[in-house]
Amino acid sequence: MRTALFPEGFVWGVSTSAFQIEGATDRDGRGPSIWDAFAGGAYGDPACDHYARHPEDVRLMQDLGIAAYRFSVSWPRVLPEGHGRVNDRGLDFYDKLVDELLEAGIAPYATLYHWDLPRALQDGGGWTSREVARHFADYAGVVYDRIGDRVDTWFTFNEPWVAAFLGHASGVHAPGLRSAADAFVSAHHMLLAHGLGLEALRARGAAKAGVVLNLSPVLTPAQLGDMTTGIPEEDAEAVARIDALHNRQFLEPLLRGRYPAELLPLIEKIAGLGHIRDGDLDVIGRPIDLLGVNYYTPIAVQAQPSAPADPAFPGSEGVLFCSVPSAVTAMGWPIMPSGLSLLLRRLSEEYPETELMITENGADFEDVVTGDGIHDVDRISFVEEHLRALRTSIDEGARVRGYLLWSLLDCVEWADGYRRKFGIVHVDFTTQRRLPKDSALWYRDVIKRNGLGAERPKRPTLETVAARAGVSRATVSRVVNGEARVSPDVRAAVLRAVQELGYVPNAAARSLVTQRTDSVALVLSVPRHGGEALTSAVVQYVTSVLEGAGKQITLMLADTAESHRRIVRHVEARQVDGVVLVPPDGPDTLTERLARTGVPVVLLGKPAIASLVPHVDVDNAGGARAATRHLLDRGRRRIGVICGPTDLVAVQDRLAAHLATLHEDGLRPMIALAGLDGASGAAAARELLSGGQDPDAVFATSDELAIGAMEAAREMGLRVPDDLAIVGFGDIHAASCTTPALTTVRVPAADQALALARLLLSRLDGRHTSPVVLPTRLVVRATT
Ligand code: FCB
Repeated sequence: MRTALFPEGFVWGVSTSAFQIEGATDRDGRGPSIWDAFAGGAYGDPACDHYARHPEDVRLMQDLGIAAYRFSVSWPRVLPEGHGRVNDRGLDFYDKLVDELLEAGIAPYATLYHWDLPRALQDGGGWTSREVARHFADYAGVVYDRIGDRVDTWFTFNEPWVAAFLGHASGVHAPGLRSAADAFVSAHHMLLAHGLGLEALRARGAAKAGVVLNLSPVLTPAQLGDMTTGIPEEDAEAVARIDALHNRQFLEPLLRGRYPAELLPLIEKIAGLGHIRDGDLDVIGRPIDLLGVNYYTPIAVQAQPSAPADPAFPGSEGVLFCSVPSAVTAMGWPIMPSGLSLLLRRLSEEYPETELMITENGADFEDVVTGDGIHDVDRISFVEEHLRALRTSIDEGARVRGYLLWSLLDCVEWADGYRRKFGIVHVDFTTQRRLPKDSALWYRDVIKRNGLGAERPKRPTLETVAARAGVSRATVSRVVNGEARVSPDVRAAVLRAVQELGYVPNAAARSLVTQRTDSVALVLSVPRHGGEALTSAVVQYVTSVLEGAGKQITLMLADTAESHRRIVRHVEARQVDGVVLVPPDGPDTLTERLARTGVPVVLLGKPAIASLVPHVDVDNAGGARAATRHLLDRGRRRIGVICGPTDLVAVQDRLAAHLATLHEDGLRPMIALAGLDGASGAAAARELLSGGQDPDAVFATSDELAIGAMEAAREMGLRVPDDLAIVGFGDIHAASCTTPALTTVRVPAADQALALARLLLSRLDGRHTSPVVLPTRLVVRATT
């Protein structure tokens, strides 16, 4: 690792928000907010009790060398009814806070709206009412009049997309509404409120003012693996639409005084355009001094014609939101520092005049409180990697003036309450005791150095534990692996050291008993079910990715009970650091037996028995839904299903989604069971076609079965697709060679294999991972 220093004057800071830390929701005249009601008393008070403990928190920041502190002002603390009567005691709090910050040499950055709308305003329609934008401007003026002389930088809004769409469309945030129209109207009123608020601040002499957006690059699954890949033509519209909804809906009005052209018809269809009045966009588009960028993770999508709209993205019909094959934070958010570079490059190209600041970036990871601190190496790595990406962007010319880490304290993470840990300072919510984590101390050094050192943050290693316990590395490894031949005293000493250091054993440690092997087992079961293409892709890609990472591959065949025993013995003996398992079709015990060895295992396909083993699967249900919807859209009403062996999990998922889709339209299913090959597909088709129900379409759960059905139809003198439409699943090579060519659902074999290899590498790194479900895609050919 190289040292990476930042430009002189680069601002290092932290961010928080009022509702997430202040508590004291009914003290000193504060009015209720929409989040008090939404939380129902479960969180929000005492939160971090910052209202009372702000002097201590400011001291903490001073000790860390923080140069700027971005906090938010609670609107209902200042104006309990949202407008009219001013609550001076509420203003006193911010007044004191600002003075303390200045005294500590910390620049105060104030955000005026971080989601806690006064309840009284919600009762009058909240953000769906245009009035609220005016009230916001008045509120901005009131706050400025009290602390404006000392605040360095103003942000009107934090993440209006979240407030508008999670609050009003999907309803997972306050005020918890579910109306797509309300979401678009609210978004516009927030933009308007920003413009009017900015005017109020400027009129009073604010020198530096801007707004904070949550921005995410929108990519296809293939681009996530390789950012140099272009966007496939078939996905271009889906990517552009989600980018318009999530990013450009805000960027363009704010920085260009216009809505993205392709967004207007969509807004019009859902909400009308009556709420966008003449002159609004002039107000919204007034120049700002600074754009705050909150970056956490990218968004992955692809086109999927029959996909329903995601509730948080009204207007996203036909777009599939995809999971990302990568390490994730405890929140499940994929970790992609390269997404930050991509985002900054794009902002620099499209809005070169705009100065930027990273106003939030950080991660939720579970922390272990030990006798000598909290060794949150994952959080340090997260920030480190993002800072490296940021440094590169600055080199490339991005005008980024500072970095504000989210967050100073563990705090209330909105609807998730207290369980999320984004802080660099731990808060014990029973005692309110603050404890800086290793990440805080590391960040202090970054600030002091104005950048990153050459040293990578280190996890506590086997060596550290061994030194602490005064034993050898092999002994630690034995204890960690639960071996019997260790005396009780030594075991106790090692376990104490493990606990104190917050040591998480990784694959390397586990295999140290027999030394680290740097080899990985690729365990293959012989597939019963048209899996040859997938199996060969797995062998090819898994091998190349893992070999590229310096691992040797041991290929092992799991075809008999004896071979299963041999494989388990091999892994138990720590001959390998990890296992990629292509499990047998149907229920088996091999997965569980391997998982129990403690060696990281990743699986291809969803396991038959629910398990914690990370796996990569394809969206079987989504594919079957798309296929069935497609037949319905083609006017077919009597749709039969030919269904392969029902002990296969993938087949179960496909069948269930097909049945559910028919059910949505009130249609009755016709099911014919089949085996694996074309002949059994043909037999099942004959059964369906001669059963007196006269199907006009068939969905087969595999291409082999669909091809059999085509033959049966031909024999019976039926024309495909005129008399009988047919859809398969898999998109095997033969599917495009039939006459007519088969409409089917494509399963991304190569992507699945790549994701599997990456998942294992993340596990070997000791990172959190979540199951990956890759999208499937309907390929419309001539049989429908
Ligand atoms: C952002 C919010 C912030 C915090 C982080 C994790 O969307 O602005 O309040 O919840 O996410």
